Amino acid sequence: MNITVIGRGNLGGGLADLWERAGHRVTRLGRDGGDAGGADAVLLAVPGDAVETALSSVTGLAGTTVLDATNLYGGARPPAGFDSNAEYVRSVTGGPTAKAFSANFASLFGDVADTRVRPSNLWAGDEQAADVVTRLSLDAGYEAVRLGDLGMAATQEGLAGVLFSIAQNGLGPFVYRMAAPGRL
Ligand SMILES: NC(=O)c1ccc[n+]([C@@H]2O[C@H](COP(=O)([O-])OP(=O)(O)OC[C@H]3O[C@@H](n4cnc5c(N)ncnc54)[C@H](OP(=O)(O)O)[C@@H]3O)[C@@H](O)[C@H]2O)c1
Repeated sequence: MNITVIGRGNLGGGLADLWERAGHRVTRLGRDGGDAGGADAVLLAVPGDAVETALSSVTGLAGTTVLDATNLYGGARPPAGFDSNAEYVRSVTGGPTAKAFSANFASLFGDVADTRVRPSNLWAGDEQAADVVTRLSLDAGYEAVRLGDLGMAATQEGLAGVLFSIAQNGLGPFVYRMAAPGRL
């Protein structure tokens, strides 16, 4: 797959490394922006309050499948008129959109391959994005678990505070698995 990551920091850079190892071709864009034309999938991994700025500096996004990994915390809000960053993203691109990879710790990407079972990767979004989310989750070492449609993206964006709190109360950065009992 041709993948463009917008944001090449801990999350975007970390997933880019894993996806390249799995055989994908990845273009990494930073705050200077660039062109995403021809990408089969785009990962958005910029600070949660920088989504409008980031997308305004990237061309070639129309109709593209976007996996939005941004989180909102510390009082940050989505762009005016939207309940979530992910819904704003879809209003810009008009393509299949998913909130994905926002509920995992990038610091553990190097450990995921060694877990006894695949950790989960929660996502919320359009059915048309499901195949891409499933594939790219597997190729990063995770199993995708769907939280709901794009209307649930705001709920997922709000999970960051929950994850941080769990991490800060004794567990540290963690993976999780949500699976039917027979598949644990
Ligand atoms: N780190 C995690 O474990 C984790 C987990 C889940 C979700 N997330 C979410 O993923 C997003 C990125 O987190 P991160 O930890 O990867 O951050 P990071 O390491 O600080 O990287 C941020 C990236 O965003 C780019 N950027 C910063 N400001 C920008 C702007 N105004 N316009 C366009 N691009 C901008 C930076 O560009 P330059 O390269 O040019 O500096 C950099 O590539 C956040 O929304 C975060 O909540 C992070």
